[in-house]
Amino acid sequence: MNRIIVTGGLGYIGSHTIVELKDSYDEFVIIDNLSNSEESVVERLRTLTKKSILHFNISINDELELDRIFQSITPKHVIHFAGLKSVKDSEEKPYEYFLTNVAGTASLLNSLSKHQCENFIFSSSATVYGEPKYLPYDENHPTIPINNYGRTKLAAEQLINQWATLNKVSSLSLRYFNPVGAHSSGMIGEKPVGVPNNLMPYILEVISGKLKCLKVFGDDYNTKDGTGERDYIHITDLARAHVAALNYSKSNRANDVINIGTGNSISVMEIIDTFKNSLSIKFEYDIVSRRPGDLPKYFAGTDKARKLLKWKAESTVLDMCRDSLNWQKHYNKL
Ligand SMILES: NC(=O)c1ccc[n+]([C@@H]2O[C@H](COP(=O)([O-])OP(=O)(O)OC[C@H]3O[C@@H](n4cnc5c(N)ncnc54)[C@H](O)[C@@H]3O)[C@@H](O)[C@H]2O)c1
Repeated sequence: MNRIIVTGGLGYIGSHTIVELKDSYDEFVIIDNLSNSEESVVERLRTLTKKSILHFNISINDELELDRIFQSITPKHVIHFAGLKSVKDSEEKPYEYFLTNVAGTASLLNSLSKHQCENFIFSSSATVYGEPKYLPYDENHPTIPINNYGRTKLAAEQLINQWATLNKVSSLSLRYFNPVGAHSSGMIGEKPVGVPNNLMPYILEVISGKLKCLKVFGDDYNTKDGTGERDYIHITDLARAHVAALNYSKSNRANDVINIGTGNSISVMEIIDTFKNSLSIKFEYDIVSRRPGDLPKYFAGTDKARKLLKWKAESTVLDMCRDSLNWQKHYNKL
């Protein structure tokens, strides 16, 4: 059976990646404890992929349960998305973040080393870089994270690097920039539990009337219009990067880190204007003071991804906003 293990596969990036991998695998084995996702995604993934989708509702910290699963399902190919991802929460609950993102990764790796894993792809983050010494961030940029979330991602990368070398596993840590948007079907998208921390889910809740107004943190940065700039990347482009990463990892003995971004930065105001001018969606926003710890601007160096993975992002800002809106409309009807 041609199958792949996907931790965190019911979450935002994991679910989109499974859809993009539908032609590569017959079975997807998802390990997800539903701490930030819903069981209903399993059925939607079955509809979108027409492939076998198995879900185990367990934590990656539960090594005994992982061992039990991997005894009957050999984890030859693994993508590890499971983790906690809020910068803000990581400052308030450092223990939880280290427990899940570092100890959870260690428990997964320890279990995998007993069960013939060959390829391992990890969801890392641009937050490992910290304050930009120069832009774009390339993969050789110093890694001095400025928050606990970034520290946990860097520690996990380092663990994976050692483990992959010791166990002769081909591994890639993908440093994602800022994924937004949703699958074009509108059937899956980003649905965080609680009040969203990321820009696009927050905007969608303002559009739907669930939240009153978008807070724009600062309009006095040294950026094109004063608001913060990020390298927003369409989720489908990001998901497709995993297809390319797996192909690369299978045909090369890799142990590397690769940025996954567009190489461009988009401001918060450009996103607001895209909704208003191209999609005729207006919503309230308030300019408030800068948020401590926010960087004015950053974006990815993409040469390595182009060269090694033969992959680049294709979608526009309009695609990102339109598909997010489509997801919101569809989801509201579910
Ligand atoms: N979304 C982003 O902006 C972004 C950017 C860079 C990196 N990442 C990383 O990518 C990965 C996926 O992000 P996402 O946006 O899809 O997040 P998400 O929260 O939507 O998905 C993560 C999934 O992992 C599951 N999970 C959490 N802890 C678990 C545990 N202990 N055991 C099993 N499952 C667990 C959650 O239930 C959820 O379904 C994360 O590791 C995140 O740190 C995300």
